[in-house]
Amino acid sequence: MNYEEVLRAIAGEIEPLRNVGRQADYIPALAKVNPDRFGICITTVDGEIFERGDVDERFSIQSVTKVFSLSMALSLMGEKLWERVGKEPSGAAFNSLIQLELDRGIPRNPFINAGAIVLADVLMSALAEPEADYLAFVREIAGDDTVGYDRDVAASEREKGYINAAIANMLKYYGNLENDIEEVLRFYFLQCSVEMSCRQLSRAFLPFADRKSDFAFGNVRLTSSQVKRINAVMQTCGFYNDAGEYSYLVGLPGKSGVGGGIGAVYPGRYSVATWSPRLNEKGNSVMGMKALELLTTYTSESIF
Ligand code: DON
Repeated sequence: MNYEEVLRAIAGEIEPLRNVGRQADYIPALAKVNPDRFGICITTVDGEIFERGDVDERFSIQSVTKVFSLSMALSLMGEKLWERVGKEPSGAAFNSLIQLELDRGIPRNPFINAGAIVLADVLMSALAEPEADYLAFVREIAGDDTVGYDRDVAASEREKGYINAAIANMLKYYGNLENDIEEVLRFYFLQCSVEMSCRQLSRAFLPFADRKSDFAFGNVRLTSSQVKRINAVMQTCGFYNDAGEYSYLVGLPGKSGVGGGIGAVYPGRYSVATWSPRLNEKGNSVMGMKALELLTTYTSESIF
């Protein structure tokens, strides 16, 4: 497959969307990012890299980080993890509170905010040094020691993080948070603040596509069955109330973030990352989603 050629065609076709959508501004620090950016990077399991656009500029990966949090939590807890968080698509906004009350404090899945706040709590209880241990894992999987937290973004999110605070309070009320609410939120926001470029994110997603190598990064080890299942959760829950549309148009397990990033995998073949800050009304990157739709359309490659 000539991915170089495909990426060139995609870049041309999505250009008219460059000004469509709005970047997230409920996190004040994200409103400062230049929204007129687009990058895409494919990393194949054979080690080839194909890229186009703004692939070196780092952005806040936000909810994409939840894939790394789930990997770590699953490696530490195994199947017991699912006693505290479900694996059903929510069909609701990523920060919705409604179902959490109906489900008595058990979040629908690990990729909505409520689920990821539970993951943060699980990691805090299990890790000796949560902040340092989490970052060490993310650096290992990205293959890059310069990846880090953006503490300004995390602090800016905390300042206006009213809904996440409400979610954490409800989780605590139902007995699904072991640690101090404020400390869990702090760690959750820090995880969301991880900064990467498209090239780094693509590399960090490769282990979810690679079926030949063991998933072993520091102390985080997953069986191939666990990796397959993380992909399943990405497919059904990675785009919140856009998950059906994303599955319909793209057909690759993936995870979005309000920083405008998307990480996705074609199992057995490649991982791909896109970045473009303008979002649709569900909080997913407009250019990123279109680029992935065209990628699977032009190549006739998808999991379906
Ligand atoms: O908690 C939040 O609202 C953000 N830190 C992350 C949300 C997010 O990225 C949703 N993605 N589309």
